[in-house]
Amino acid sequence: MKLVWYSNPTKISLRFVIPTSIIIKMTDEELLSKLEKAIKTCRKCRLYKNATNAVPGHGNSKAKIAFVGEAPGYNEDQQGLPFVGRAGKLLNSMLDMIKIQREDVWVGNIIKHRPPENRDPMKDEVRLCSGFLEEQLKIIKPKIIVTLGRIALEYFVKEAKISKYHGFPISYKGRVFFPLYHPAAALRNGNIENILREDFKNLPKVVKGEIAVVDLGKEYTKEKAEGQISFM
Ligand code: URA
Repeated sequence: MKLVWYSNPTKISLRFVIPTSIIIKMTDEELLSKLEKAIKTCRKCRLYKNATNAVPGHGNSKAKIAFVGEAPGYNEDQQGLPFVGRAGKLLNSMLDMIKIQREDVWVGNIIKHRPPENRDPMKDEVRLCSGFLEEQLKIIKPKIIVTLGRIALEYFVKEAKISKYHGFPISYKGRVFFPLYHPAAALRNGNIENILREDFKNLPKVVKGEIAVVDLGKEYTKEKAEGQISFM
């Protein structure tokens, strides 16, 4: 709280100036729904033009686990909700398998409007849209961010290869990620589905901290020192 003196030649008065954050204390749900409104009216990139609905993300504002995919597909675009098509059903069945309720987690995407024909998001679309996801994660503060697929993993950890890190909890720049293959990839390939299922079974242990977390920051520094990578 700031104390401010107002003075004039004849009178001196004392006033308290109360910061607006104290006057208007919004709940996490309110903050998320404010963001949702901004997402629904966002015109920053071209994607809104072909979309039926924006897909801001959905779930528990206090979730310990946040699932982050790439971008909405056809069904998500129709319903305005993330992972409600075939990939979403597979995600739900994996959650059932480990006895985690979908209402207890948060599910969202990097991109909030469906790219035409489900093409990969373009760099400028990611740059213009990802601020929404970052704000959402700041509010939710999940313990673990489960990245679904290559694009979500590479958004957070640019150099990480999903074929190397799937199923390993990794810490990077102060956050813990659990990279998994995308359920849509699992629907196309039975081997990937088996790997996804096995990796998924470890999620409860990752949440409880029972699986060692790979510190990617340190790993990269070591690999760089050994001349194995050149990006830093
Ligand atoms: N694929 C994604 O990456 N996100 C969705 O919401 C649905 C399918």
